[in-house]
Amino acid sequence: VSPELQSMLDAHELLQKFYHHLLVNTKDGQHALEYLLNRGFTRESIDKFQIGYSLNSWDFGYKFLTKRDFSPELMEKAGLIIKRERDGTYFDRFRDRIMFPISDRNGNTIAFSGRSLGADEPKYLNSPETVIFNKSKILYNFHLAKPSIRKLQQAVLFEGFADVIAADKSGVENGIATMGTSLTEEHITLIRQNTQSITICFDSDKAGIEAAFRAGNMLIDAGCSIKVAMMPDGLDPDEYIKKNGPEKFRNEVISASLTWMAFKFLYFRRGKNLQIEGDRLAYIETILKEISKLTKAVEKDHYLRQLASEFSISLEALQQQLKQVFFTEK
Ligand code: UTP
Ligand code: MN
Ligand code: MN
Ligand code: MN
Ligand code: MN
Repeated sequence: VSPELQSMLDAHELLQKFYHHLLVNTKDGQHALEYLLNRGFTRESIDKFQIGYSLNSWDFGYKFLTKRDFSPELMEKAGLIIKRERDGTYFDRFRDRIMFPISDRNGNTIAFSGRSLGADEPKYLNSPETVIFNKSKILYNFHLAKPSIRKLQQAVLFEGFADVIAADKSGVENGIATMGTSLTEEHITLIRQNTQSITICFDSDKAGIEAAFRAGNMLIDAGCSIKVAMMPDGLDPDEYIKKNGPEKFRNEVISASLTWMAFKFLYFRRGKNLQIEGDRLAYIETILKEISKLTKAVEKDHYLRQLASEFSISLEALQQQLKQVFFTEK
């Protein structure tokens, strides 16, 4: 590691410790700590994930770093401070936010995501891409989750930091999340080096369901085996756990995950009224296309029977139509 990179890493580690100290030990951080505790974060999680608080100040981070001889130019490159065009002075990127440290796979802090306490936009402010932080390669909590992922041969992919932390508190320690971006091939490679089995547990709102469909298709294409965990009423995992507790989350969400095909059955029926003939026929055709992509005869037969019984269609008619789908698709 070059001296410059080392200095960036050192700055992140020192700041992370200071942010954490401000959150848990000081009067200035008290309202932030109360916010987290009210949301259901435990003191244990706050320590384990080294969550912190950045003061409501334009330059406390800048002063903290320069007092310790970190070069401002380098700290700007590290994404921690921002240079004012006007006069070349610097100000802190993160102000009055809950600070989530982002680690690389060795556990070094390489970036932060700061959540606003109120309605300030953006809700989460992330470090920019830097020489030490590349969003398309980093999965939140990968470092801590890796032993559990390897042991269980299963990873759970979440949408947000709060979801990973709430799941961990509930005994689901193999959770990871992207940094608010879509899944990349680099993320998939990293996961695939440890397991080929992934449970997608995104928010059960429209955006989350669409994102789960996209992520699932990418993972399937990479040869993974996929399940999809869903929550009722458009909840996200963190909200679900707060409302229903850890046991229900483990037993009725994670353990009750849908197979990829069962998820697609649900996915394609959203926004359709299956009482209406046109919608129903379009839906059946879409599902037949999906069934035609399956490679195992037993699976094909299973889902054809399921479709036949749900819509009171003869299995023969469905098999006949499946052949047509096959010839028109290929
Ligand atoms: P969500 O909007 O679902 O947030 O975005 P959340 O995780 O439920 O957050 P809370 O519970 O309100 O605190 C999911 C993820 O998208 C990224 C973050 O990684 C977030 O966890 N995101 C979201 C951003 O990067 N910036 C934003 O402004 C919002
Ligand atoms: Mn305060
Ligand atoms: Mn969401
Ligand atoms: Mn969410
Ligand atoms: Mn949430």
